[in-house]
Amino acid sequence: MIRFWRQTRLFVLTTIVLAILLICHNPVPIAEAQPSTTPTTTNRSLLSVAYPNRALSASPAQLAPLPYGYGALAKAIDAETMKLHHDAHHASYVNNLNDALKQYPDLQKRSVESLLVDLNSVPENIRTKVRNNAGGHLNHTIFWQLMSPQGGGEPTGAIAQEIKQTFGSFDTFKKQFNAAGVARFGSGWVWLVRNPQNQLQIVTTANQDNPIMEGLYPILGNDVWEHAYYLKYRNRRAEYLDNWWNVVNWPQISRRSQLSSK
Ligand SMILES: [Fe+2]
Repeated sequence: MIRFWRQTRLFVLTTIVLAILLICHNPVPIAEAQPSTTPTTTNRSLLSVAYPNRALSASPAQLAPLPYGYGALAKAIDAETMKLHHDAHHASYVNNLNDALKQYPDLQKRSVESLLVDLNSVPENIRTKVRNNAGGHLNHTIFWQLMSPQGGGEPTGAIAQEIKQTFGSFDTFKKQFNAAGVARFGSGWVWLVRNPQNQLQIVTTANQDNPIMEGLYPILGNDVWEHAYYLKYRNRRAEYLDNWWNVVNWPQISRRSQLSSK
């Protein structure tokens, strides 16, 4: 009997020691042991939405030149508005973002998208400044690419089919998009996004928030801040939204739509 208890005690002690050794050694790599936290919509990462092929750098943030002249979008937006919008408003988001990050080299190494999808990792004392200005920089970087002097007309190909399937027709989509833009109270944006269920959806965001902050991939977006239209359209936001379709760059939007569903 004594021998039995000795063997049992030895077995239990050996099991405990082996368990401790296993826990300390941890043979499973940490990267594999933890679930992925990379935000995605379907299979597409939200950490690279600024350009079709790359994310937006914050080391330092830089104001890229407009891809066309100030007066090139006159079918919808006058040259003075474009100049102020890009050279003053967008430039100030870039400068303010760099100012917010100047004491934080580790944050500068991250992309603008990565800061926005994980704002809780940004120190509280600069979080609002980063939210507003990283958002402003990202939104406007996307916005300039969504317009073209050769823009307008109707989409073709897969994006056209998907818009028709989702909204019934291109006209209905435009009406719903414009109505959402008019209804956005105060300053903000109206977007066509792809949601995690791989569906197209119209959403609006306040201030300079970007849809990636809600897990949505921005395909198409219009700026409904007054600085985007007030010089020409005064308080007539609906008229601006209506005319804006004359400069919409469908090939670029089609590319973004394809990327968002990959
Ligand atoms: Fe703007």
